[in-house]
This record gives sequence, structure tokens and C-alpha cells, in this order.
Amino acid sequence: MSLSFQRLGEGNLKEIQTLEALCFPGEEWTMKMIQTHLEFHVAFGIGDSETQCYALVCETPWEVEIFRIATIPNFRKLGLAKQLLEKLFKEFPKKDFFLEVKESNEPAIKLYLSAGFVELERRKKYYPDGSTAVLMKRNPIE
Ligand SMILES: CC(C)(COP(=O)(O)OP(=O)(O)OC[C@H]1O[C@@H](n2cnc3c(N)ncnc32)[C@H](O)[C@@H]1OP(=O)(O)O)[C@@H](O)C(=O)NCCC(=O)NCCS
Repeated sequence: MSLSFQRLGEGNLKEIQTLEALCFPGEEWTMKMIQTHLEFHVAFGIGDSETQCYALVCETPWEVEIFRIATIPNFRKLGLAKQLLEKLFKEFPKKDFFLEVKESNEPAIKLYLSAGFVELERRKKYYPDGSTAVLMKRNPIE
């Protein structure tokens, strides 16, 4: 599979909404939330003919926080999310990366560990459904 990596912008709003609905059924961000994200932050996608894996990311002068990363169901376990993370590390080579993930989300935690993230701490009752968050960090490679 020949993959292209691209920055997604407001022109990709509808596409991101479709990806959200496929990847987070019942928990997808609304059009307004995605639009607000794109006004202030960034998004990236990877795929062959179209975006199959995407990330919604917040960059500050010191760090990058990954708010969302997802692969559409039919394209999971093919290495796409890991490749997208590697592209993001190259895009922001000097920055620390942070994220939080539900402790029950084993696929995501395995992905993050395999991409070099380490666990920082756990926060109980962090999410509205009462579940625990795992906070994770990846340092830049010196
Ligand atoms: C988590 C998610 C993004 C992984 O995407 P993916 O493209 O399937 O991941 P990859 O194929 O790149 O896998 C990367 C690593 O994660 C591990 N992994 C991925 N899915 C896994 C699963 N279901 N079970 C166990 N390990 C898994 C793989 O073993 C792989 O490790 P390796 O390369 O060292 O072997 C995908 O399952 C998804 O979109 N889930 C729904 C959305 C979500 O929960 N996002 C994260 C929170 S925002």
C-alpha cells in the first residue's frame, strides 16, 4: 500500500466528520467541535487513495497533545496508526508528546507503548462514564 501523509484543514471538515462517525460510533465529535478544533489546532491523515487513519492534534510551543487518533474499522491492524504516529514525531521532532486514554482501551494503549510512549500516571473517574484515564508521554529522540 502506497501511503500519503497530509495535513487536514477546514476543507476536510466533512471527511473528518465521516471518519469520526465510523471510528467513534456514539462518541463522535460534532461538526462544531471538529470545526473549532481546526480553527485553533491541527489534524493529519494517512491513507492510500483516501484518509484511512487520522489524528486531531494540539501543538503548543513546548509540546504536542494528541486528542484523537483512529483508523477506520476495515483498515485496523495494518500498521496505519503506528505509521501516522511516526510521521507526527517527524513533523514535531523536538517536542514532547502527551495523550490520555481510557485504561480499558487496550488496542490504543498497545499502539502507544509500541510507538515509544510511557505511562505517567492514572487518573480515576476522569471520564464522564467514570472510567480511569492513563496519561502517557513520549520524549523526543535526542
Ligand atoms: C487504536 C487504533 C487507533 C489502532 O489503529 P491501527 O491502525 O489498527 O493500529 P496499528 O495497526 O498501527 O497497530 C500498532 C500497534 O498497536 C497494536 N494494536 C493495534 N490494535 C490492536 C488490538 N486490537 N489489539 C492488540 N494490539 C493492537 C499492534 O500490535 C501494533 O503493535 P506492533 O506494531 O508493535 O505490532 C484503532 O484500533 C482505532 O481506531 N480504535 C478506535 C479509536 C480509538 O480508540 N482511538 C484511540 C483513542 S483516541
